[in-house]
Amino acid sequence: MTKRLLLVAACALVDADGRVLISQRPEGKALAGLWEFPGGKLEPGERPEETLIRELHEELGIEVKEECLAPLTFASHGYEDFTLLMPLWICRRWKGTPHGREGQAVKWVLPKKLRDYPMPPADEPLIPMLIDMIPAR
Ligand code: C5P
Repeated sequence: MTKRLLLVAACALVDADGRVLISQRPEGKALAGLWEFPGGKLEPGERPEETLIRELHEELGIEVKEECLAPLTFASHGYEDFTLLMPLWICRRWKGTPHGREGQAVKWVLPKKLRDYPMPPADEPLIPMLIDMIPAR
């Protein structure tokens, strides 16, 4: 049987100190407790960038302009019941202070410390990229 495809758009928000925001999946959701780059599922008719801008507002209360999203990579992972395809962006400019609007914990973490936070498998390949891209402090 062909597995269904799940399309998720996600983003590494990077602050002026070179820290990256991660968000903890809440109890009751799949992969609860794991730390992820914020984002979410595409709705019908949405472009991934539109999804990401909507999700960053819904989940974190920030406003992001599309021109501030730089494409970074395209992650994928085969789960038992679906295949996840996840384009990822990096964003250094937004309006507002990101906070967990859906009750989720959020943390700003230096790239070299990201490995201390268990992540879903599709998010993990982003860690070495962020370590390379963001100067160490
Ligand atoms: O957040 P939501 O439950 O809508 O995400 C759907 C699925 O996308 C999750 O079950 C997870 O497998 C995946 N996901 C991920 N990494 C993210 C966001 C979502 O692996 N940063």
